[in-house]
Amino acid sequence: MIFYFSATGNCLHISHQLDSNTQSIPQVLKNDHLVFEDEVIGIVTPVYAGEMPHIVRRFIEKATFKTNYFYIISTYGMNDSVASEWASQFCEKQGIKVHYANTLQMVDNYLPSFDVDEQKAIDKKIPEQLAIIKEDLNQRRNYIKQPTEDGREKYNLVKIRFTEHPEINNGEQIEITDKCSGCGICTRVCPIGNIKLVDGKAVKINKTCEFCLACANNCPSKAIIMSISDKNSNARFRNENVSLQEIIKANEQ
Ligand SMILES: Cc1cc2nc3c(=O)[nH]c(=O)nc-3n(C[C@H](O)[C@H](O)[C@H](O)COP(=O)(O)O)c2cc1C
Repeated sequence: MIFYFSATGNCLHISHQLDSNTQSIPQVLKNDHLVFEDEVIGIVTPVYAGEMPHIVRRFIEKATFKTNYFYIISTYGMNDSVASEWASQFCEKQGIKVHYANTLQMVDNYLPSFDVDEQKAIDKKIPEQLAIIKEDLNQRRNYIKQPTEDGREKYNLVKIRFTEHPEINNGEQIEITDKCSGCGICTRVCPIGNIKLVDGKAVKINKTCEFCLACANNCPSKAIIMSISDKNSNARFRNENVSLQEIIKANEQ
């Protein structure tokens, strides 16, 4: 049994490669009773600034897992910094014993810093990474990936920057421009239902959000931009193995 969160399909794709029983966290969170039992339970999550997205944290805080083997796979783009250590410590604080935590490098969908067209052109050897993780899981390996000194340093720098400038990373900089055609896709891929249509145009409900960038990356008109920094506002990303309908099904509120 796998629980995943995915804004642009990387985690959704990896979940499907690892297990036939996958459940989307934004959907599961609609239920009150969050007790799960299985021989093996996994979480597949993106790395956000070295940590886990808030929606994944809320799920872990609310859920009870009864299992003999609990694992976390964190997909990331360019720097996994302290991801596996951070995620396993977070779970252990909730009383969850983590047996395996590893990371998997994929396209970096963080639009403020990366041109996703350039990202797509890099061969990150995903099948090779996945094969190692699959073998580890089959063997029920006990392993928590440890951060490098450089990873720890980068994590601390990013943490200071986002603490001093929360507007960079809390969704405030997501701007819906006049290019909006009113198709409503952003309202359906947002995992917290933070966008609605008003007079045929998309409008944010709250100023801040998860900042998962599902709205911007899945907008067919490229009408949603980052107002502080958008590396290439013409480049947007969805994992090539995942359809828009699958993202909607996973995230729609
Ligand atoms: C807010 C935010 C923060 C991110 N922080 C990191 C990071 O610290 N390191 C990294 O390598 N990738 C980072 N990423 C990239 C994602 O972790 C990566 O693209 C992930 O595979 C996306 O998964 P998804 O397609 O399932 O949403 C970040 C992305 C977002 C939206």
